[in-house]
Amino acid sequence: MIFTVAIDGPAAAGKGTISRAVAARFGFAHLDTGLLYRAVGAKGGDPVAAAESLSAEDLARGDLRSLAAGQAASRVAVIPEVRAALTEFQRRFARQPGGAVLDGRDIGTVICPEAEVKLYVTASPEVRAHRRWLEVGGDEAEVLAEVRERDARDMGRADAPLRPAEEAEILDTSEMTIEAAVAAAVALIEAALGRA
Ligand code: DC
Repeated sequence: MIFTVAIDGPAAAGKGTISRAVAARFGFAHLDTGLLYRAVGAKGGDPVAAAESLSAEDLARGDLRSLAAGQAASRVAVIPEVRAALTEFQRRFARQPGGAVLDGRDIGTVICPEAEVKLYVTASPEVRAHRRWLEVGGDEAEVLAEVRERDARDMGRADAPLRPAEEAEILDTSEMTIEAAVAAAVALIEAALGRA
């Protein structure tokens, strides 16, 4: 069975948690595509060369989850040649037999427009910054500024900007528990599997 769940949205909206939960629930493979851009940003040197030579070791680095790594990822992600170098791997992953969940910014719009389920997970910048601050600590106002800066760059870039795919279901998790958000995603997938 070829079945792709595309989960897009801004930083700290809940994409990762929802993606892991639905992958476990349905037995689908999961790819956190943000990790690819984080690894390219962290590698240093020429970002295009880094993207073209990305290895499993690069993805296993321990420092990819930091705010700084997120900013570096967002900066290299504006470069069309970087995005192009990562496209084929993501497309193959999306259409592997057995089902796949990919979370990112452009999965439903660019990587896999044919995805059987498209979800756009969002929340207010304040709620997302608060969640991220609970994980990383530090100054909450600074975390909010970083969230806004990254949103602006990811939504404003010319190549594959962050936006909901036309047929995407919008899930605003600002006032939702994670259990409710996962349940909503599961219901959508079950409905689509029933049609598949
Ligand atoms: O999801 P994340 O926070 O790990 O993503 C880090 C950055 O990588 C994000 O700010 C923009 C970029 N990114 C992207 O451009 N396209 C994707 N599919 C995933 C991430």
